[in-house]
Amino acid sequence: MLWVMDILKSGALGAPWASEGQSLSLGAASDYPPGVTCYPFSLMAKDVRQVRTRIFTQGDALCQSLATTIVEEARACQAAGGSYRLALTGGTTPRRLYTALAARHDVPWGALELFWSDERAVALDHADSNYRMVRETLLARDPVAADRLHPMVAASDPDDADLEELAADYERVLRDATGADAPALDAVLLGLGPDGHIASLFPGEGERDRPDRLVVAVRDSPKPPPRRLTLTSAFINRSATVHLIVTGASKADAVRGTLEGPHDPDRWPGQRLAPAHGTLTWWLDAAAASRLRQ
Ligand code: 6PG
Repeated sequence: MLWVMDILKSGALGAPWASEGQSLSLGAASDYPPGVTCYPFSLMAKDVRQVRTRIFTQGDALCQSLATTIVEEARACQAAGGSYRLALTGGTTPRRLYTALAARHDVPWGALELFWSDERAVALDHADSNYRMVRETLLARDPVAADRLHPMVAASDPDDADLEELAADYERVLRDATGADAPALDAVLLGLGPDGHIASLFPGEGERDRPDRLVVAVRDSPKPPPRRLTLTSAFINRSATVHLIVTGASKADAVRGTLEGPHDPDRWPGQRLAPAHGTLTWWLDAAAASRLRQ
């Protein structure tokens, strides 16, 4: 914890990279700039290429910095002649991020193609809909064409719909949009629940997170509403970047359990995040990071 507070207060640590929010990296030692502290997280699958933790004093600064990163990633995809295929999540912290992004003047909106990491099985205009939340924040000014928006639950009567069919439908959407043989997104945004869930992958339900599926149905989510769809960790791990956004002291135990607890992905679903060819970044405010030992 000492190094975290040193960075937050001084922006120094004797190295030019150690400013607020600066990455501390895990991965091959040869990837680090000189002077970067490599600290011994006990977690994560062994094949993870890189895990970074960025810690900010305030959630607002976190959202601004992540918004900048998203703009940079989108521009890089655009410059390479492609789309930036991004999956969005629900939750209060992501809502702040979307509001920050919508206020910027440098977002290459034409490059964005939007998907969802998880969704509640409700109508698109329902108060619980993650799609609706994104529409009211990120998309309030309608900057993305309808054919580049891929809501996860598009059924007209989701209350009665067969969740397995909805999951299979969204798998088809993902394959059609990102590649039938090797479907993958450019970036996935995720929040973390106080119980340690990511997307709608909850503790104690590891067998639901099937490695052979891109999307699975959830019928009994402990966080209401109960009926949901979620990307699997296997599909999330195909993404080029994964951004996990966590703020507030209520998440501090889950952050610590996931990052520093014994390897137990059934208890801490976030421990399954290990992008095979990409980067996982934890975006934390000081309160969420407050129980980290390292
Ligand atoms: C959803 C989510 C969920 C969320 C976390 C964090 O419920 O729709 O996608 O995974 O991101 O629960 O939510 P908060 O930021 O509101 O705590």
